[in-house]
Amino acid sequence: MQTDYENKISRQEALKLACYYLQERIRNGSHLKIIFEHAVHIFNVAKIAEGIAKNSNGILNPDTAYSLGLLHDIGRIKDETVTKVPHGIEGFNYLAEHGYPDLAPICLTHGFISKDIQKSDYPTYRPKLFKQVKEYLSDLQYNDYDRVIQLADLFSRGKQIMSIHDRLEKNKSFYHIKKLSYEQQAYDLRDYINNKYGIDTEQLVQNMFKQPVGMYPTSELRNQPKLQPFKFYRFDGRFA
Ligand SMILES: [Fe+2]
Repeated sequence: MQTDYENKISRQEALKLACYYLQERIRNGSHLKIIFEHAVHIFNVAKIAEGIAKNSNGILNPDTAYSLGLLHDIGRIKDETVTKVPHGIEGFNYLAEHGYPDLAPICLTHGFISKDIQKSDYPTYRPKLFKQVKEYLSDLQYNDYDRVIQLADLFSRGKQIMSIHDRLEKNKSFYHIKKLSYEQQAYDLRDYINNKYGIDTEQLVQNMFKQPVGMYPTSELRNQPKLQPFKFYRFDGRFA
């Protein structure tokens, strides 16, 4: 199966959905500092993904890339340390159940640069769920939106922007792991995007964040219509 994300959501809809889930986190009692840092993260990922798409010579749609950046972590609507459901799974189910089944894979693919995933790199996954995800990913063909979001997500950690090297080091120290099985794949991913579109993504990201102006699309947020409850969408392929 090939992921296909184009024309599945408008930029405005994605913004509305992102605002809704951030508000839900506030209602659910998450710490405001954590929600704020997460909000900065998703807007930064969206901005980086949009920036790469704008430099893709018209191959990638900047609005699609931006929307996927906003939604890739929607599974964090619930605290995975409490639910014990990894945010990739929560997000996949959430988008599938709320009318966006075609966008659901982005919640999972952004966390799996390599499909040959090792359980040791994903300590929050229960073995049965890990096996299910591995099987699901092996049948899925990533497209460049999956890869761009994976890359943008590597450049952004919390409210920080960092090089791929620094991000990998942070991941290792966070999980107390000496070597990540996907380390080389992370560099290969960056080089793939760089070579395919003729851009230096590390430099592009550095330039983008030299000036914080424009990090938040305030006018777009201001023009948001009042939030409406989402229509429930039945989806049978739910992950256990
Ligand atoms: Fe993320």
